[in-house]
Amino acid sequence: MYRVLALNNISKVGLSRLPADRFQTGKDLADPDVILLRSADLHSMDLPASLLAVGRAGAGVNNIPVAALSARGIPVFNTPGANANAVKELVIAGLLLAARNICQAWAYTQALEGDTQTVEHAVEAGKKQFAGFELPGRTLGVVGLGAIGRQVANAALALGMKVVGYDPGITVEGAWLLSSQVERAASVEAVFSRADFITFHVPLNDHTRGLANADTLRLARPGLTVLNFARAGIVDTDAVAAALETGQVHYYVSDFPKPGLIGHPRVIALPHLGASTAEAEENCAVMVADQVRDYIENGNITNA
Ligand code: MLT
Repeated sequence: MYRVLALNNISKVGLSRLPADRFQTGKDLADPDVILLRSADLHSMDLPASLLAVGRAGAGVNNIPVAALSARGIPVFNTPGANANAVKELVIAGLLLAARNICQAWAYTQALEGDTQTVEHAVEAGKKQFAGFELPGRTLGVVGLGAIGRQVANAALALGMKVVGYDPGITVEGAWLLSSQVERAASVEAVFSRADFITFHVPLNDHTRGLANADTLRLARPGLTVLNFARAGIVDTDAVAAALETGQVHYYVSDFPKPGLIGHPRVIALPHLGASTAEAEENCAVMVADQVRDYIENGNITNA
């Protein structure tokens, strides 16, 4: 019997792919053969000698000591693409929230008090105060053209936006799946210099940490909206805070609230909701459970 320790909530549909006569699953099993996780930090844990495989129900693996595990011959499986639609939908929502000042306007109406006439006056004032702009013709820069970046790029085109993308490592299949209307830039700097909105869909590593920083933000058109649904470290939030003050950055929309920016009227921060849909959680859990089972039972390695 293989022991599968689930460190986070992993969808039951996913766990059901591990037959109960061969896999015991639980949240507090000692000496596990497999660890399944979502956001738990494996860097800070002692990894058991019994471990045969690690599976992440998500795309990023920055919460897992991949090199140390690889040195022990332990594969780390992840689920690229399984939550791409969920993240895409939230990024598109973020574009619209910023362009139409929806969060500010919502907070304004939530705080309204008084009789019908007072509220009607406030509505007239709010109509002017929170007027926004439309997306067609504006340029979205997409840094990273993997499963999520491609979906975001294609969806933005459908909204009438121009899209400039950058990814030096795009796969041949990825290039086929990307609309030919996406203009390909030669560098991150070239994307910044063209964008009205910029969104990041890259893993966090030494090449991507702080991609949005004082120097790159300066290259952009004044009034840039920065969207970060990838990882907190991709954006230098001190630089964003400074650029929000000068107006160089108009809005910062992020899935990673940062103390210094919480409460800023032109910051929209969410509690890492990108992949938090029932569908994405199930897709990721099924994909990772299938991979782990195939490895344990047949020795096959996919997405490790
Ligand atoms: C991912 O890396 O795909 C997401 O961070 C998944 C999650 O939110 O758990």
